[in-house]
Amino acid sequence: MTIRHAQGTYDVRFDEFNGTTHVVVTDSNLAKLYPKLIGSSPIVIEAGESSKNLDTYAYVAGQLLHRGATRKSTIVALGGGVVGDLVGFVAATYMRGIPFVQVPTTLLAQVDSSVGGKVGVDLPEGKNLLGAFHPAKEVIIDSRFLKTLPERELRCGLAEIVKYGWIMAPEILDELSKSDLDLQKLVRKCVELKARVVQEDEFETKGVRAWLNFGHTVGHAIEQITNYETYTHGEAISIGMVVETRVAEEMGLAGRGLSQKVQNSLAQHGLPTELSTKLSVSTLIDVMRRDKKSDQREITMSLVYRSGQCELVKNVPVEIIERVLA
Ligand SMILES: NC(=O)c1ccc[n+]([C@@H]2O[C@H](COP(=O)([O-])OP(=O)(O)OC[C@H]3O[C@@H](n4cnc5c(N)ncnc54)[C@H](O)[C@@H]3O)[C@@H](O)[C@H]2O)c1
Ligand SMILES: [Zn+2]
Repeated sequence: MTIRHAQGTYDVRFDEFNGTTHVVVTDSNLAKLYPKLIGSSPIVIEAGESSKNLDTYAYVAGQLLHRGATRKSTIVALGGGVVGDLVGFVAATYMRGIPFVQVPTTLLAQVDSSVGGKVGVDLPEGKNLLGAFHPAKEVIIDSRFLKTLPERELRCGLAEIVKYGWIMAPEILDELSKSDLDLQKLVRKCVELKARVVQEDEFETKGVRAWLNFGHTVGHAIEQITNYETYTHGEAISIGMVVETRVAEEMGLAGRGLSQKVQNSLAQHGLPTELSTKLSVSTLIDVMRRDKKSDQREITMSLVYRSGQCELVKNVPVEIIERVLA
């Protein structure tokens, strides 16, 4: 599949990855699981979101210098979204920008983060606060990696797949309700959808790319106030999708009963649909006001109003969000 962007095109290949002569950057879990594929001298970062920071960014850039990487070098990001975002950001800036190849190894990275060119790191003040648009030169999606992925990480990716279904492709919801999931087919379908969205609105200025944020306004707030410890990203947005659809119902945008359907579609895959502990509603609202999508303290949400259809809604009434959360 070929994807267009402002500076050219790149291919997403559904293929086996069997090693490379370029420098590979990966995380500590993958380095243990796939030593042969990764080769003899990878740059290895500690697994986990806490590595997506400026210290690790400087470490990877320093390692590239030590290895003599030049402006003509290509680097390979082999890992989940953390490796992809961080290495992509190094690639965007190393000697003012070098190409990189993404080999996404989590379901989330395969269906979402490896396509679309967003790269970056977190700051202590919040996630993804430093970043760039730097599309990969190539994305290689090898389904074999999913065999070693822990169940909880798999569910994280499933939450994003359910999201694609509700925002723009009800046929995905049908596919997901089958007892035998065809993951490869679902991944391919989601990449097609993501490609459509980012080609139409690469820089998130037309409100289309923002659809992908369904569940994320509330989900990000939940993740942030629980210090990214209680819920995975997929679990937080799962709860977020249910809450936001209740908000859409209360606003009269969605028909009654839609949130129950959203809830069922997530619970079916073992995803949580409500908070397991009580969180402060006012703190959640404060965090939502500071969301990147929000304008001057008004809360913006991507809301689904019917299966497969959604809309970016500005100025979502705070009283309604409070009522739903309470
Ligand atoms: N750039 C984008 O458009 C975009 C979109 C969505 C999410 N993201 C970012 O992606 C990140 C989350 O990505 P993630 O969920 O892939 O997390 P991750 O990269 O931390 O991977 C999750 C865990 O799975 C392990 N792992 C990865 N592949 C494995 C495999 N094949 N077998 C066994 N274990 C494996 C990792 O070591 C890690 O412990 C977040 O930082 C988020 O901000 C970016
Ligand atoms: Zn997400």
